Amino acid sequence: MASAETPRGAAADAAPIPLWLLAEVTYRCPLQCAYCSNPIAFARYRDELETQEWISVLEQARAMGAVQLGISGGEPLLRKDLETIVGRARELGFYSNLLTSGVGLDEDRLGRLKQAGLDHIQISFQADRSGPSDEIAGGHHFQTKERMAQAIKAHDYPMVFNVVMHRHNLDRVDGILQLAWDLGADYVELANTQYHGWAYHNRAALMPTREQIRRAEETTQRWREKAGNRMRIYFVGSDYYDETAKPCMNGWGTTFLGVAPDGRAMPCHGAAELPIELPSVREEPLKAIWEDSHAFNVFRGHDWQPEPCRSCDLLQSCHGGCRCQALLLAGDAWATDPVCPKSPVHDRVLRAVEVADERRVEVPLVMRSVKNSRSLS
Ligand code: FES
Repeated sequence: MASAETPRGAAADAAPIPLWLLAEVTYRCPLQCAYCSNPIAFARYRDELETQEWISVLEQARAMGAVQLGISGGEPLLRKDLETIVGRARELGFYSNLLTSGVGLDEDRLGRLKQAGLDHIQISFQADRSGPSDEIAGGHHFQTKERMAQAIKAHDYPMVFNVVMHRHNLDRVDGILQLAWDLGADYVELANTQYHGWAYHNRAALMPTREQIRRAEETTQRWREKAGNRMRIYFVGSDYYDETAKPCMNGWGTTFLGVAPDGRAMPCHGAAELPIELPSVREEPLKAIWEDSHAFNVFRGHDWQPEPCRSCDLLQSCHGGCRCQALLLAGDAWATDPVCPKSPVHDRVLRAVEVADERRVEVPLVMRSVKNSRSLS
């Protein structure tokens, strides 16, 4: 395995534009979702950027050409300065999207966010009723989410209804889509779990059978026919089951720039788990981070890629897949993504799917909590 210091893959061409800025403003969260994509060590991120530091990130990113701002977490509503951040984003001309659980929202806050210029809200659900929802997210939040989804529509926001799908809720797709329909969702994203972070830790408990996925897709197709354009439904497959490497982040360092709560800049959501040092917006200008840092160049372009990727016809479309998945499954962040059938360790993915198919005894979930974060990291 190559070391983190190896300066492989420096960009040959001028750096592209970070069109999509993701501000992970806090990792604090009232929920405990067992599939959370935050780093396992999220409890260490206590030193959050101050308001002015976030505003500086926004200003720098916009000057570099960023147009789309996602504000996520953790639960971004826990930041009391959210309206200030949104207001500045609007002044700068960003299209802003709040990714929230809805917990911590109320009518007043929705009004203030609207006034500040928030464009779009994505609200996450776990299931179509409280029991299974509480089981996967911890706590009793289902009714609050329902109320907040209604309020989001009452405030005239375009609403994405997002559900991470897995073994415990794939059989509930019909009820989930009915709920989204009743709440007036404009878009539904049924995002099958990608096994990174907490989801990887809970992989045995979360991986569904292939039959569950087949049935869920069939139900989704029926709903698409019924819902037409009133509610657009996306069923995003899990890499393990699709057996194709996806162009993670649209290609490393091409489009996506994430900033963690403490200011570390990330070329992908999972970069904190990779053996690379992440530069901080507290120490360097964003432009230098994007264009010159080791972290943003290490997997940029295709020069760093090993065989079989290097001579594969699909390289320009999949970019070798996901680095985080390569590290988790092949033990080497530089390896071909093992979900690709050409990977020398693809059998590890096939075996995981087989085990999920054969599983008869359910495995307990490890919830995303501060206590578990500390004991696991
Ligand atoms: Fe890190 Fe895919 S999540 S490269």
